[in-house]
Amino acid sequence: SGDRSLVVVSNREPYVHEYADGEPTVERPAGGLVSALDGVVTETGGTWVAWGSGDADFDPAVAPDGEIELPPGAADSTAADDPPGYTLSRVDLPRRLVENYYYGYSNQVLWPICHLEADPVTVDPEFAPAYREANRLFADHVVAADPDVVWFQDYHLALAPGYVREERPDARLVQFWHVPWPTPEFFEICPQAVELLRGLLGNDAVGFHLERYAANFRDCVAQFVPDAAVMESGEVRYDGRTVETYASPIGVDADRVAENARSDAARHYWDRVVDRYDLDPNRSVVLGVDRLDYTKGIVERLDALAHLLETNPDLAGEFTYVQKGTRTREGIPAYRRYYDEVRDRIAELDRVHGTADWTPAVYIEDDVDDRELAGLYRNADVAVVSSRRDGMNLVAKEFVAAQGRPFPNAGLAQARGLGTPTRDRVPGALVLSQFVGAAESLCPAALSVNPYDVSTFAGTIREALAMGENERRDRMDSLRSSVREADIDAWLATQLDVLAADERAAPAND
Ligand code: G6P
Repeated sequence: SGDRSLVVVSNREPYVHEYADGEPTVERPAGGLVSALDGVVTETGGTWVAWGSGDADFDPAVAPDGEIELPPGAADSTAADDPPGYTLSRVDLPRRLVENYYYGYSNQVLWPICHLEADPVTVDPEFAPAYREANRLFADHVVAADPDVVWFQDYHLALAPGYVREERPDARLVQFWHVPWPTPEFFEICPQAVELLRGLLGNDAVGFHLERYAANFRDCVAQFVPDAAVMESGEVRYDGRTVETYASPIGVDADRVAENARSDAARHYWDRVVDRYDLDPNRSVVLGVDRLDYTKGIVERLDALAHLLETNPDLAGEFTYVQKGTRTREGIPAYRRYYDEVRDRIAELDRVHGTADWTPAVYIEDDVDDRELAGLYRNADVAVVSSRRDGMNLVAKEFVAAQGRPFPNAGLAQARGLGTPTRDRVPGALVLSQFVGAAESLCPAALSVNPYDVSTFAGTIREALAMGENERRDRMDSLRSSVREADIDAWLATQLDVLAADERAAPAND
C-alpha cells in the first residue's frame, strides 16, 4: 500500500550529471525503462539507489552526500517537465570497482554467460571480489533508506538481495532479471554460480521475461543449491522462506513511441538523414538499430546482406541498408573490436557492391533522442533485428509502435497538435531473430530468422523487401496488437502486484 516505502535499485541512474564547460548539467538517458521506473517512483515516493556514473554526480552543488531530493530543485531546471518526487541516492563507485564490477564481472562474466556466449567470458581474479564489494555498497544504500519493499533490477545486482536480507529479514525483496537465464550446463561456466543463486534467493520473488528463462533459473537452483527445494508450483523453498519465480514480458510505451514517430523532430531528423546520405526515395530502406554489442548479431546481418547481393544481382540499387549504432561498454576490448568489425563490414559491403550512384549501406553513429530514433523507425520499409540472443529486444517493439497508425482520424489529431500525419504509408516488415524474447509474441507476424543461417537469412530479407501491401498491412496489424497488449503499463502493473503481494497473500494465522 501507499504507506510502505519503496526502494528501486539499478546499476544505471535516471539522472546523470556531467560537466559541460565546467558547469554541471543534467542528462536523462534515452530509453523507455528508466522513464517508466521514474514514473513509478515519482508516484509512490521513496528512493532510487543507483551508481552515480556522471563526472559531476557528486559535485557538492548538485548532490550533497550523493543524494538528490527531487523535486525541490536540486536537479537543475533542464531535468524534466514534471520533476519526480523521490530521493535519488547515488552509489559512489571508485574507478577500481567500475573496472572490475561493471566492465569486469557484470559485463565480461555474467552478460556473456546469460547470452550463451562462452568465448567472451573472461575470468579475472579481481572481478568477483569487486562484484561482491559493489553489491555490498548498493545493499548499504538500500538498508540506509529503511525500505519496506525493495525492487532490484537486472544482472548487476545478483548478490545485493542476499546482503539486504541479512539486515532486513522482514522487508519484501523483488528482483527483475532483464536478460535471459541460461540452462544449468551453461550457467555452471560461472565460477560463482552457487553464490549468485543464493544471493538471488534472498528475494521473495524473481521475475524474467519468459517462462523459459524462469524454468532455467529453477533448474539451476535445483541442480546447484542442495538446500533449496523447487516446488511444482514454481516456488522455491529456501532458508525457511518461499521464493516465487514468475514470467512477465516487458514492453514499450506504444502511444509515446507512436507520438514520437509523428513529431516534427522525427520528420526533421529523417530529412537530415536523407539529405546527408543522399537517400533515393525510390529505394527501400532496410533498417538496423543496435547497441554495438556482439549479442546483437550485426555482423551476421551484414553477412546476410552481402550474401543477398551476391546471389541476387537484380536487387542492386533497390534498397539502402541504414545501420544506427550506439557505442556501449567501451572499456571492454571485445566491444571495441566489435565497433571496428561493424564499420569494416559496412565499408566492405559498399566497396564490393556499391556503384557510382548507389551506396548499399550507410552507418549512423549520431547521438539521437527518442523522437529522432522514432523517425528512423517510421521511415523503414524493413527492420531487421538479428540478435544471437536477447532477453526481450525492445527495438523490435519500438519499430512496430512507430510504424502504427495511432490516430484513426489524422486530421483531428493534427488539429489537437499531435504532430503532422505522414502519408498513409505502407507499413514496414519486420525480420526478427528466433533467439530474442520478443519472438515469442511477435512471430509469426514477424518473419523469423536464424541469424547463423546466412543464406536462409538473406532469403528472408529478400522476402521482406518483396512483400506486398496487403500482407504488410495484415502482419503489421497483428504485430501492433501484440505490442499494445503487452506494453510497458501491463508489465508495470504486474510488477506492482508482485511488489505488493505479501499484503494480499499474508497467511491468516492469527
Ligand atoms: C541491457 C541491460 C541493461 C543495461 C543496458 C545498457 O539492456 O539489460 O541493464 O542498462 O543493456 O547497457 P549499459 O551497460 O550501458 O548499462
